[in-house]
Amino acid sequence: KYPRVVLGIETSCDDTGAAVVDENGTILGEALHCQKDIHLKSGGIIPTVAQQLHRDNINKVVDQAIHASGISPDELSAIATTVKPGLGLCLGVGLSYSLELVNKYHKPFIPIHHMEAHALTVRLLHPVEFPFLVLLISGGHCILAVVSGVSEFMMLGQSLDEAPGDTLDKVARRLSLINHPECSAMSGGEAIEHLALQGDRMICKLKIPMSHHRDCNFSFAGLRNQVNKVIEQKEAEEGICKGQLLTCVADIAAAVQHTVAHHLAQRTQRAIYFCKKEGLLPTERACLVASGGVASNRSIRRVLQTVTDKSDMTLLCPPPMLCTDNGVMIAWNGIEKLRTGVDVLHNVDGASYEPR
Ligand code: KG4
Ligand code: ZN
Repeated sequence: KYPRVVLGIETSCDDTGAAVVDENGTILGEALHCQKDIHLKSGGIIPTVAQQLHRDNINKVVDQAIHASGISPDELSAIATTVKPGLGLCLGVGLSYSLELVNKYHKPFIPIHHMEAHALTVRLLHPVEFPFLVLLISGGHCILAVVSGVSEFMMLGQSLDEAPGDTLDKVARRLSLINHPECSAMSGGEAIEHLALQGDRMICKLKIPMSHHRDCNFSFAGLRNQVNKVIEQKEAEEGICKGQLLTCVADIAAAVQHTVAHHLAQRTQRAIYFCKKEGLLPTERACLVASGGVASNRSIRRVLQTVTDKSDMTLLCPPPMLCTDNGVMIAWNGIEKLRTGVDVLHNVDGASYEPR
């Protein structure tokens, strides 16, 4: 039956997401339950807590998405679910719930790679042709890759230590931004973006990591060390202890955001040179796609824009709601796989299925 319609389910980290999307890219129904507030209070994600919250919410979230779509589960063409990478306990909730639906309604099952879904989301909105360059920046990953097909990714670089979202979250926690009246309900990255607007980045000089490395990898741990030293110094100067807010939080936020943005931009620039040299991208108007939670940052987008402008490339980023984790990107990746026939599993046995 056409157009084909896929239910997508996401539970890899701290968002329970579900969506029903058709192959024209129309989002028929979607629902999302974010656990951010709870994890912010405990100072990080505790996997067992996240797992329980997914269990508590998955039924409601999936029902809401299906109900909003006006489609009955019988009419679905397939069910797509994130199976990796992510927190094992959390992934397990989405997987077992999906397999129950798969068996109940006799639907094909499509296992989804979370980062591939982030990379392909853009094609739901723009007719971006393969191959394109992708920069995936989230709380768990930092990846530069050439995407030449629905499941064809050529890795050019990745983080040697932590991911940029993780760094921003940890800096925000170290600065106690949860106690800042303007940032209480924001993720670390959002809080830093918000405060950076009011800050003067010149107040502390941070070194851009790896600027002399001749590859496309990233590193953020050293940057975080630099920031921690600045914070300690400022705390001593202002005579305050941990948990209290420095008067210069906005300046530090501006400096960190600037340095993260320029590190991302330098590595991306190198990847573009490499791709041009090797002929990996179209010669005219090649695309750079930036996605993942950190790609919702406007300042980072602006810096990436200068890189693509210089290289005569087009920068494309999904809107912020589709950059952070959601069910739509999983459903859409399901549609892409259904169209090409990759990874569409029929007659899956829920009891014995193991993701590859
Ligand atoms: O893609 P995502 O929702 O989940 C993962 O797969 O990790 O990304 C979450 C990350 C968090 O670290 C969060 O602080 C960061 O994305 N983030 C941002 C912004 N919004 C979310 N970082 C910078 N600026 C933002 N506006
Ligand atoms: Zn993600």
